[in-house]
Amino acid sequence: MKTSQADFLETIAKKSDGAELRGDYTNMTANYVVNQNWANYTEEEHALWRKLYQRQSELLPGRACKEFIESLNALDVSGGIPDFEATSAVLEKTTGWRIVAVPGLIPELDFFTHLANRRFPVTVWLRTPEEADYLVEPDVFHDYFGHVPLLFNPIFANHIQEYGKGGLKAMDLGGLDELARLYWYTIEFGLIQSPEGLRVYGAGILSSGSELVYCLQPSKSRHIALDVERCMRTLYKFDSFQETYFVIRDFQQLFDDTAPDFTPMYERIKKQAPLPANSLLKGEVELLCP
Ligand code: PHE
Ligand code: FE
Repeated sequence: MKTSQADFLETIAKKSDGAELRGDYTNMTANYVVNQNWANYTEEEHALWRKLYQRQSELLPGRACKEFIESLNALDVSGGIPDFEATSAVLEKTTGWRIVAVPGLIPELDFFTHLANRRFPVTVWLRTPEEADYLVEPDVFHDYFGHVPLLFNPIFANHIQEYGKGGLKAMDLGGLDELARLYWYTIEFGLIQSPEGLRVYGAGILSSGSELVYCLQPSKSRHIALDVERCMRTLYKFDSFQETYFVIRDFQQLFDDTAPDFTPMYERIKKQAPLPANSLLKGEVELLCP
């Protein structure tokens, strides 16, 4: 009998554009975990990491939220691709999370199962120098630099675990499209208010040189307060900058607003057409960046 793993490998072997998925999907455990083999990274790869790190970290002050900046600094990984085991040892003591190495994109069931068990999957390979500015699949720089620092924040760490559990539930309820939009507009592209002004907490922005600057310019895109159901109705752009960014007051709001049972929301949303990425609904107010 074919395993679901074999199924996945077959479907991803050829993506729609004919390109193959990047990672090496041999030598995995049942839940797509591989060895990071840290010693095998080349000096060129570490040098590219340093370059990416340097470029991003210069853009962070005044743009990234302070929780992210503080955790990133404490991680002390400016010098090269980090060893996941070393990070996990510290992270586990702080919030009970660990990171696990994966070959790249993994099936939803495995992804949600990892999150629900406080394991964050991080891709092992690094982009090539030619892809420094743009890449289609997430690599170790996006996954680690973008996502790992906020796993040190207790509320955010709890939220991601709840998201994982919610994902497993959404698989049974047919709510995956809706939940994926929430993930996209919060965990990947979310903005947060702070006493000093609007800041970024979304990993997709934090690991991107250009969007980190773009997303805070109110003249270019729309900033609206996060409303979970509205967000889950909204389509997103995956091959350009976002047209709308959803803003939270703080991580507690994100946790609290996503805590209710989504079952009735999924049912309501399914009855309506999804909203275009640039929608502004009646009564919605665009937030102006201070
Ligand atoms: N509350 C959601 C549900 O009942 C689960 C969830 C939690 C989703 C946190 C996203 C984030 O399905
Ligand atoms: Fe990501």
